[in-house]
Amino acid sequence: MASLTLLLSFALAALLFGFSNAQVMFGFYNYVCPNAEAIVNKEMVDIMAVAPSLAGPLLRMHYHDCFVKGCDASILVNPSAKKATEKVAPPNLSIRGFEVIDRIKEKLEAACPGIVSCADIIALVARDAVALTHGPCYQVETGRRDGTRSVAQDVIGNLVPPTSNITALKAVFLQKGLTLKDLVVLSGAHTIGTSHCSSFSSRLYNATGKGDTDPTLDKNYVPRLKSKCKPNDQKTLVEMDPGSFKTFDVGYFKQVSKRRSLFLSDEALLHDSETRRYVEHQAMASPDEFFRDFAVSMVKMGRLEVLTNEKGEIRKRCGFVN
Ligand SMILES: *[C@@H]1O[C@H](CO)[C@@H](O)[C@H](O)[C@H]1NC(C)=O
Ligand SMILES: *[C@@H]1O[C@H](CO)[C@@H](O)[C@H](O)[C@H]1NC(C)=O
Ligand SMILES: *[C@@H]1O[C@H](CO)[C@@H](O)[C@H](O)[C@H]1NC(C)=O
Repeated sequence: MASLTLLLSFALAALLFGFSNAQVMFGFYNYVCPNAEAIVNKEMVDIMAVAPSLAGPLLRMHYHDCFVKGCDASILVNPSAKKATEKVAPPNLSIRGFEVIDRIKEKLEAACPGIVSCADIIALVARDAVALTHGPCYQVETGRRDGTRSVAQDVIGNLVPPTSNITALKAVFLQKGLTLKDLVVLSGAHTIGTSHCSSFSSRLYNATGKGDTDPTLDKNYVPRLKSKCKPNDQKTLVEMDPGSFKTFDVGYFKQVSKRRSLFLSDEALLHDSETRRYVEHQAMASPDEFFRDFAVSMVKMGRLEVLTNEKGEIRKRCGFVN
């Protein structure tokens, strides 16, 4: 009880006086929109029941948002005739589920007008997507505000393409203040969802520019992937963690350790001793430790360059800067 009171007074103080160095915090909406997280969760339960394949894309949306200019919902801004926004930048890895965010935002605006940011909705939706695919239920910090800038070029160098090697992966994560452990843990998100053949087919058909197959792929697995992805197939979707791509578990690490991952950026985790050790350990482990690690890394990622206090705004509609 004491801690709840403390939390409430903290939230109130943060709201009324604005801490000079305010950060996101657990339960930011407890006082100003007490049902915010329950409203998000109820919508997510309904949406996942009819469109479970959105879990992966919705989780990825949070990563894209946070890695490009911070977790500020800049990923959601619609392009105009004059301006290409992050949403239409080529490395968007075909993010889907924007209508989910809009639908939840409408419910939240009806309950608490002008209070809940789109950036927080993305973070809560990612959390619920994980929980609803049998992953960990973790606490998400809130209190982010929405950015007013979204420019396609900002994406360059901030996201890691699926063709990245370990050097490039490390560079981007370290530059964000994240660690190698965060890299390998967050890569575990590939335990749910699918990928277009085009994101990895060079490994099947033209690994070194000589029409060859990537020698780091399990030879016995290659024919199976080739049967799903014909050369130049841009459209077909392949399960990233075959057999359990709708379940958040340690299956991804099993795939990577067996050299059956789809992306070069997954295979790359075997090219650093620390990330390799983690992959091999989790491939044999019960999911508890990975679940705890994932929650920690998601909270860290959710703090990247957040806007709080008087910075940014609370968008009225997530696709449009006010
Ligand atoms: C992603 O980028 C591509 C290439 O610029 C674009 O054609 C596509 O519409 C974008 N996806 C979304 C959801 O806007
Ligand atoms: C890793 O990728 C970067 C960027 O594409 C490239 O410049 C570098 O040469 C690559 N490093 C290795 C060891 O292949
Ligand atoms: C294979 O890669 C090389 C070098 O990138 C390229 O010149 C060639 O056209 C590619 N072949 C096919 C079939 O895509």
